[in-house]
Amino acid sequence: MKQIQKILISRTKKYYVRDIEADFHTELGFIRKEDLKNSKPGDILETNKKNRLYCFDPSFIDQYQKIRRGAQIISRKDLGIIIAETGISKKSIVLDSGAGSGAATCFYANLCKKVYSYELREDYYKLVKKNIEFLGQKNVSLKNKDIYQGISEKNLDMISLDLPEPWKVIPHAAKALKPGGFLVSYSPCIPQVIDFVNALTKEFIHLKTDEIIDRQWEIAERKVRPKTRQIGHTGFLSFARKIM
Ligand SMILES: C[S@@+](CC[C@H](N)C(=O)[O-])C[C@H]1O[C@@H](n2cnc3c(N)ncnc32)[C@H](O)[C@@H]1O
Repeated sequence: MKQIQKILISRTKKYYVRDIEADFHTELGFIRKEDLKNSKPGDILETNKKNRLYCFDPSFIDQYQKIRRGAQIISRKDLGIIIAETGISKKSIVLDSGAGSGAATCFYANLCKKVYSYELREDYYKLVKKNIEFLGQKNVSLKNKDIYQGISEKNLDMISLDLPEPWKVIPHAAKALKPGGFLVSYSPCIPQVIDFVNALTKEFIHLKTDEIIDRQWEIAERKVRPKTRQIGHTGFLSFARKIM
């Protein structure tokens, strides 16, 4: 998968340019490869139809939006609350499982010192590996491994779970997390939340279970109202902290 070289943006649409050795075609006309190659961030490029596109270099989030998807990913609104509640940062060592498409793994890798990531299925393991390579991330240790069998790492700052039976990880997380470390479980359905929270052992306190509702608004002059189509439910997030 080729990395994105340039972002071109109109007032309404974003274009991802992977190949600057070829003309780039859009519905607004095409940009000549010479213009692409010589462009700098902040330049305005004109298509053959005289439409203007604004040019800049891709940021992490531009590249991230282009990772390949297999398993259902954790959305950015839910990753946001995980980061805000646990305070993970460039000093943190974290573990993510199941890696799935790698959306959570790669997001944590952009912030943290080191990310360990376990994925059971070989096809998803390979997909995540490709996504990590695509983003050029060097701080991820990805393992084709069943987390229910145990965690090899110790002294972790956070463990993030998106698994069918997250309660099976609790005894392993008690050994792998540092005191004060966070165990976070993302589950789409309430029966999993109940079983996870009820299974928390004496090493943990349950801080809270959250659901983040993201309600986007349409703003077009005086037509200001919630968008007709919204993302509905994604999942519930349960936060626990290791106290001993
Ligand atoms: C919903 S997906 C996770 C998506 C991921 N959070 C993301 O943002 O891309 C759940 C993943 O857990 C994996 N899985 C299920 N049981 C597992 C286990 N025991 N150990 C490791 N991975 C497991 C599945 O193969 C699947 O890829």
